[in-house]
Amino acid sequence: MALKSKTRARQFIAALLTERLDPGRAAAAVFLGIFVGIVPIYGFQTLAAVGLALLFRLNKPLTLASTFINNPLFLPLIVVSSVELGSFLRSGSFQPWNLAALTRAHMKEEFLSFVVGSLVLGVLVGGVGAAITALIVHLRAPRNPGLRERIRFVNRTFAQSARFDRGFVRWKLRLDRIFGLLAAEDLGSGTVVDLGCGYGMALCFAAFGDSSRHLSGCDLNTHRIAVARRALSTLNADVSVGDVRHFELPPAGLILILDVLQYLSAEEQLALLQRCCSALAPQGRLIFRVHDCERGLWSAITMAFDRLLFSCERAGTRPLMLSAEQYRNVLEGAGMQVESRRFRNRLPLAHILFIAKRPLAEIAS
Ligand SMILES: C[S@@+](CC[C@H](N)C(=O)[O-])C[C@H]1O[C@@H](n2cnc3c(N)ncnc32)[C@H](O)[C@@H]1O
Repeated sequence: MALKSKTRARQFIAALLTERLDPGRAAAAVFLGIFVGIVPIYGFQTLAAVGLALLFRLNKPLTLASTFINNPLFLPLIVVSSVELGSFLRSGSFQPWNLAALTRAHMKEEFLSFVVGSLVLGVLVGGVGAAITALIVHLRAPRNPGLRERIRFVNRTFAQSARFDRGFVRWKLRLDRIFGLLAAEDLGSGTVVDLGCGYGMALCFAAFGDSSRHLSGCDLNTHRIAVARRALSTLNADVSVGDVRHFELPPAGLILILDVLQYLSAEEQLALLQRCCSALAPQGRLIFRVHDCERGLWSAITMAFDRLLFSCERAGTRPLMLSAEQYRNVLEGAGMQVESRRFRNRLPLAHILFIAKRPLAEIAS
């Protein structure tokens, strides 16, 4: 019993310490903690820090720890810096530091300078603390172990392609976070199908570590398919010029549709997703990426980028995105276990990655 509660307590503390520790969130926690620690709300700093951490869903221990910038050692420095900074901001010059002035007629003025100065000092020191934290968390974050090797493998596979195509592959691997997300997923076994495969980079990525894995893909773009055919010739690949709407799907362990659904009408998108679900082997996965339409400005930028791409490609249609709920409904309707990952790319594009797994139980029933 005692052992159980000890384990639970340890798990709880571990969860608290690691909650929301990506660079951005950790930086926000440190910024808030330092700011709260510096502004003169003595006696309420802990309460304020925990309240704000709860409100903004930040790492609570980190927020709280950052308020300890206000400690007996630093307090005199914080007060003096605040008063001086406040005086400078209010009157344009620093005040000769005089403790006695605080107790005389200047008290109100000095206090006002102290409050103004502490707010600005809180933002400045908080900002520096946040930047350092973001850097440290970023550098310490565990790297996706297989990613580098997979990327090298893809670059090597396309090394003999023409310069432009080779460069495109290299830059896409560098800029597109999809590859990091794919490397973190279980890409299963069995045939990989990539619908609208372009250069076939994702097929190659999935074949890393198993060059006999059967790869199958299609795309309307003849040039890209020609590049893919040549590059993937050392693998067990079968790529062809074809329309995803009529592509005959083989039984597959993994089906990918990356940035292609928006070329189709709503009915075509839903029908294709249903077909994919039926073609999956037990435990097989359908992974597809679409725009995230619920990210405000980022969604608008993503849509504008796609419109530009469509007009360059003379697609003859406008990109059409369904809501995340519609995608989820069709997958769940087909009996799939669905997960989704919202993410922002290095280019400021907002996407959702859907991962739909065909359960074993559904097959058995
Ligand atoms: C934005 S690119 C994505 C390529 C690839 N999936 C990737 O992630 O690198 C979209 C691709 O979809 C292809 N495409 C669009 N409509 C298609 C269709 N109906 N059938 C097959 N391919 C299509 C285009 O030719 C283009 O290569």
